[in-house]
Amino acid sequence: MIRIQKGKPIIDQHDKNYLYAGKFGGNYVPETLKKPIDDLTKLFSKLRKDKKFIKERDYYFKNFAKTPTPFIKLYNLSHHLGGAQIYAKVVSEANGGAHKIYNAIVHALICKRAGKKIIIGDTGAGFAGKMLSMAAKKFGLKCKIFMGTKDMARQKPNCDAIRANGAEIIPVDSGSKTLVDAVSECMRYWVSNCDKVHLAIGSTVGPNIFIKICGWSTAQISRELVIDLKKEFGKIPKKLKLINCVGGGSSSLGFWNSFIDYNKKQVELIGVEPGGPKNSKLHAAPLTYNCKIGILHGAAQYVVQDKEGQISETKSISAGLDYPGKSPIHCFLKDAKRARYTVATDEEALAAYQLVASMEKIRPSLEPSHAFAEAIKIAPKLSKDTIIVVDSCGDAKKDELILTKRLGKNHD
Ligand SMILES: Cc1ncc(COP(=O)(O)O)c(C=O)c1O
Repeated sequence: MIRIQKGKPIIDQHDKNYLYAGKFGGNYVPETLKKPIDDLTKLFSKLRKDKKFIKERDYYFKNFAKTPTPFIKLYNLSHHLGGAQIYAKVVSEANGGAHKIYNAIVHALICKRAGKKIIIGDTGAGFAGKMLSMAAKKFGLKCKIFMGTKDMARQKPNCDAIRANGAEIIPVDSGSKTLVDAVSECMRYWVSNCDKVHLAIGSTVGPNIFIKICGWSTAQISRELVIDLKKEFGKIPKKLKLINCVGGGSSSLGFWNSFIDYNKKQVELIGVEPGGPKNSKLHAAPLTYNCKIGILHGAAQYVVQDKEGQISETKSISAGLDYPGKSPIHCFLKDAKRARYTVATDEEALAAYQLVASMEKIRPSLEPSHAFAEAIKIAPKLSKDTIIVVDSCGDAKKDELILTKRLGKNHD
């Protein structure tokens, strides 16, 4: 039986080998990265206890990321579906249009403390890259973003923003030309340049320290949500469902962080993975489809793989979710049965986008549209006193090309 310890941050619930539940995560890295990872681990464990550092983080979260983000009731959608009351935490209102701003700010602050002047990162949807380029500009750092060429073509508005902020995009043309290859290439670059360069992995994946920094940063979302819920209901509702899309897992972990210790009958955590095109076997949903454990980007996790254990090709309309692995912490939450994981197909995400955008004032990007698809599926079957909150963690501006191609010009 895998147990979650109450009262201890989920990011810290690993053993001395940095494994969660004795099997997920770890630091499976080349010898040359041992010391830089050790140094970063020591630096971050000091900084997260440093009141001055936390004050600085909170200052930039408030004044640069523009938090807290709105919490709104989706009256029309709730009325249309019947059943549960649906709310959205509109994280896409944060500066830059997504939750990736939190991790970017924290990494830029750490980079400065480490005395480094160059920061690098990976990106799929382009938001992690855009936010890192924004933070780099703000703090006077040189910035390089690694991005698959398939993603560069499908997420052009975010590429334009990265370049406008003065960062360089390193196109990655290997493998599937998507996020998985961008992370690999970025880590490869870091191996040869780690003395001068700070690495900011864009999600809760990779060697343990990157999972920790990212999870610690996005936890801001659930700290705000606790306040939002208490303001709206006077307490945490008795029947609450928190629905989030899951790529690498950073927005969902941030959205759930303060709620993990609640009884799952009171607060259900629902993660939505990308199911891929409706009539295809390809997906990026290793948790839903019970894929085996493998090593990806230095960490053990459930990962989409073939019979020989090679990482398999994935497919999703959403560049931000198109990644074969999942954060070791999500693997832990799945095996501990604390979170439930399911999928939405490309078509379901598109239909959800259209319904939400036509009825409400928000335009969720294709990633959170996967989460809305699950809300739309379950809401009609639930009682009126059930509260669903969807993390609307990205803005659809970056998806304009895809939405027009798939849904036509007047897609809202
Ligand atoms: C808006 C948005 N949501 C979700 C994701 C998925 O990543 P994660 O699971 O780390 O939040 C991405 C990744 O780029 C994203 O841009």
